Amino acid sequence: MATQTDTTKKSMSSGAKALIATTGGIGLGISIICAAFVAPAFRRICLPYVPATAEQIKNVLHFLPRNGNQVRLLDIGSGDGRIVIATAQQGIKCSHGVELNPWLVWYSRFAALKCGVYPNTRFFCKDLWRFNLKPYDYLVIFGVEQMMDQLENKLILEAPHSKVIACRFPLPNLKPVKSIDAGVNTVWFYNLSENNTSSSRQI
Ligand SMILES: C[S@@+](CC[C@H](N)C(=O)[O-])C[C@H]1O[C@@H](n2cnc3c(N)ncnc32)[C@H](O)[C@@H]1O
Repeated sequence: MATQTDTTKKSMSSGAKALIATTGGIGLGISIICAAFVAPAFRRICLPYVPATAEQIKNVLHFLPRNGNQVRLLDIGSGDGRIVIATAQQGIKCSHGVELNPWLVWYSRFAALKCGVYPNTRFFCKDLWRFNLKPYDYLVIFGVEQMMDQLENKLILEAPHSKVIACRFPLPNLKPVKSIDAGVNTVWFYNLSENNTSSSRQI
């Protein structure tokens, strides 16, 4: 016959099991979410999630048309979708983002819905290096210095008629039409159809 002490011990051990399962589950969940944010650090080119500031977004919008009915724009590495959403709010009817992190992609879709621009936006959960840039008139990149050379080649090959807006780091060999602001807020504007290389580089 079980004594009261036995019953207490039993219920304590099942309570402990439930606690371990819960904390283990929470820990696993957090690790899965964090893994998507840490993963870029293990890629050949590390492009971490650093969202654009309000000033940087304002500078990007400066180079875009107000009424972008015919304009197709892509933010390369779109993070939480803030640039895509801001450009859609400015009137770009077809504003897309490509982003590797699935949590950020789902967050971006939700944020676009909340901001009332969902129909004009699309977020692709894909690797930017395997994503075709050809359909786009405007390409926005907030990158890192190490990727700009390779990205410049991709832009010239796939989107030679597009306009490029680069935040923080410029394209290394192309000559910008214009740049605004200074330091981390600098934004460069390129018109690839003018093919204005700043050096005698052959691709
Ligand atoms: C500097 S953040 C820029 C975010 C956003 N464009 C903005 O300005 O707020 C770069 C983003 O690129 C994403 N990223 C890194 N490597 C990528 C890859 N290979 N393909 C697609 N996205 C990538 C990161 O997850 C991160 O969200």
